[in-house]
Amino acid sequence: MLLWVLSFTILVSSDNSVPIYKYSIINTYKHSSKDYTQGLEYLSNDILIQSAGEYGRSRLQKLNFPSMSIIKEYKLDPSFFAEGITILNNKIYQLTWLEKKMFVYSTDLVLLDVIIIKNPILQGWGICNDGIFLYISDGSSFIYKMDPNSYKILSSIKVHQGTKYIVSINELEWVNGEIWANIYYSKYFIRINPDNGNILAWVNLTGLEANEDAFWYGGYVLNGIAVYDQKIFVTGKCWEHLYEIELVYYQNITDVPKY
Ligand SMILES: *[C@@H]1O[C@H](CO)[C@@H](O)[C@H](O)[C@H]1NC(C)=O
Ligand SMILES: *[C@@H]1O[C@H](CO)[C@@H](O)[C@H](O)[C@H]1NC(C)=O
Repeated sequence: MLLWVLSFTILVSSDNSVPIYKYSIINTYKHSSKDYTQGLEYLSNDILIQSAGEYGRSRLQKLNFPSMSIIKEYKLDPSFFAEGITILNNKIYQLTWLEKKMFVYSTDLVLLDVIIIKNPILQGWGICNDGIFLYISDGSSFIYKMDPNSYKILSSIKVHQGTKYIVSINELEWVNGEIWANIYYSKYFIRINPDNGNILAWVNLTGLEANEDAFWYGGYVLNGIAVYDQKIFVTGKCWEHLYEIELVYYQNITDVPKY
C-alpha cells in the first residue's frame, strides 16, 4: 500500500511538474517614473509603443528607444483609463479599464476606430495577438480570443495549473505560440498554453527593480512584457528602469508558488 501511494505520488508530481525560471539582466534602460505602464510593444528595434494608464494621465506614446524621447503622444480623454496594447496588421489596439471601449490607431497614433467591448469581457486589462486573432484578459482567469474584424469573441481559456485557477491575469504578450502574462500585484509572470490555459512555466522577477518593495505599496507593480527580435523586455508601472532580461531555468515545481 505504501509503495502504491509512493509511486502514485511520484507519477502525479511528475505530471504536474512546471518549470520556474529566474532571470539575468542583459541591459538596463531608463523608463519614466511618470509612466504608469499598462502596455508595451516594440514597433522596431528603435521605436517603442507604450500605453500609460490612470484617469487624467492616460496616453499612447511612440518613443525613441533607448533614449525614450517622445516622437508622438496621444492623450486620452480624462474619463478613460488606458490599459494594454497590441500591434496587429499596422494597427495599434488599446484597451481601456472600466470604460468597455477599445481604441484602434494607426502606427502614427491617429485614432481610427472606437470599439465597444461587450460581455463576457468585464474589464479591459491585457491584450496580445497571434498574427490573426486578438487575445484579451479582463482581470479574471479568462483570456478571450477575438476576431479583429467582427470583434466577435470566438472562444476563451481559463488560466490554471492543475486544478488551481490563476486570477488577475494582466498584460499579455504572444511569444512563439505561447501567451506570456503578468499577474497583477505579483513578482512573477507566467507562460500559458493558449489552447487550454495550462501554465507552462513561471518566471520569478523578484528583486528586478531595486526599490520595488517601496513601489509596491503605491501599486507600482511589475507590468509590461515586450518581446522583439528574440529579446525580452520588462518594466513596471512608474518604474525607473526597463530591463532586457534572459530567462534562467531554476527548478521544476509541482504546486502553484506563493505569488
Ligand atoms: C520540468 O517540467 C517540464 C514540463 O512538465 C518537463 O518537460 C521537464 O522534463 C521537467 N524537468 C525536470 C528537470 O524535471
Ligand atoms: C523567487 O525569487 C526570490 C528571490 O530570489 C526567492 O526568495 C523566492 O524563493 C523565489 N520563488 C520561488 C518560488 O522559487
